Amino acid sequence: MIRLDYRSVDSNIIGNEHGLNIQEEFANYKDTIIRIIADLNQRKDKPGQWLQWMNLGYNEETVWYVKEYASMVEGRFDNILVLGIGGSALGGLAVTEALLKPYWNFLTPEQRNNFPRIFFLDNIDPDSINGLLETLDLKKTLVNVITKSGSTAETMAQYMIVKDKLEQELGDDYRKNIVATTDKQTGVLRQLADQEGYKTFVVPDDVGGRFSVFSAVGLLPFALVGIDIDEIIQGIKDMDLALKNTDIFENIAAQNALIHYLMDTKKGKNISVMMPYSSRLKYISDWYVQLWAESLGKAYNNNGEVVHIGPTPVKAVGATDQHSQIQLYNEGPNNKIINFIRVEKFDTILEIPKIFEYTGIGYLGGKTVNDLMNAEADSTRVSLADYSRPTITITLPEINGYNIAQLLYMFEVQTAIAGELYNIDTFNQPGVEQAKNYTYALMGRSGYEESATEIQNKMFAV
Ligand code: PA5
Repeated sequence: MIRLDYRSVDSNIIGNEHGLNIQEEFANYKDTIIRIIADLNQRKDKPGQWLQWMNLGYNEETVWYVKEYASMVEGRFDNILVLGIGGSALGGLAVTEALLKPYWNFLTPEQRNNFPRIFFLDNIDPDSINGLLETLDLKKTLVNVITKSGSTAETMAQYMIVKDKLEQELGDDYRKNIVATTDKQTGVLRQLADQEGYKTFVVPDDVGGRFSVFSAVGLLPFALVGIDIDEIIQGIKDMDLALKNTDIFENIAAQNALIHYLMDTKKGKNISVMMPYSSRLKYISDWYVQLWAESLGKAYNNNGEVVHIGPTPVKAVGATDQHSQIQLYNEGPNNKIINFIRVEKFDTILEIPKIFEYTGIGYLGGKTVNDLMNAEADSTRVSLADYSRPTITITLPEINGYNIAQLLYMFEVQTAIAGELYNIDTFNQPGVEQAKNYTYALMGRSGYEESATEIQNKMFAV
């Protein structure tokens, strides 16, 4: 199992002003946490609660359909192109980057065991879209368009461009190169997919984008590039079982949620930095940033009071950002909690050759970069503690599907518990919807005429 080490948030280590008396706080919140976890597990099957993501580890039907389709198309495509944005792209990107061999798209087919390369077009930069489409042979590309709402402007623009190009190149056969993942009934993409006869997968009801990585949104791209999705499912199930424990002393998601909540509300640390010491986990930080920001940044609490709360997540990667952000974290305002993710056993042991023995860098020779990486994580944590800066360390025994699934699922549960502590709706995103609607209005979507006039007027004022 993955492990959580919170010693460096304790007042014993970083002092009373910035640290928490952890044992006391856990005891104070024991009953609250019991109530929250029991309540989440009770509500999870009720429609409209947006908690169906808690059941994704048990959705055997989806796993079966995903595997069946992946084996059906195996060997037919050189590339997978995922179209989507936000929760429809970040989970896939984070997990494939973590689990596939580094530089996957540069490897030969043999090195990739003949599985395809994978690309995520998670933005609408015209140069990037054009650049990618000029590089890919679309005839040999399977396009997975993913949108829960079925109408997000960025994703639909990507889709329209790619579909048009595919049709030009393949004629009527283009349909075989498109698979859509969307709502089972509603939305423009659902309608189009049914009309056009695409193969489709479903984003289940009551699963929001940022909580959808273990639905077909993530599982399909994973299976298409040969990632073992059974291992992923096992990781979710085992973590889910562990996190059903209502005792805060035994539940790492509850512990990290409470620590972050108290650090923000009691100690003024409303910035949460996610800093894995592994390049392969770099996009896990991006995924966490979206999960934490969209879920917890809210104007109103559940009592309808204006609160404007939410911790600000920041992404970083170790050791690189030691040379960019750590100066600020050590000496700047003491307003952050820093989450390290540490990998115990990397796939590779990379020795530093014993050269330049009698120079100032001779001490490195004969050691491994693995030792260096973890020494950097430890020394940064200790130096932050010297400056009374709180840190959490999450340890992954190694990077594999089982552990990555545990990590992501743990963060999801942690976010849900934090939302309950803040007493807000974790699963809505009115602030995102507002901007989405303004975009529709500016781009002339019918039904948005009133918003168009409103935004035109405001644009001159803002
Ligand atoms: O988490 C969310 O709900 C959002 O980030 C969505 O995933 C994002 O806006 C894309 O939405 P959709 O999947 O409807 O295209």
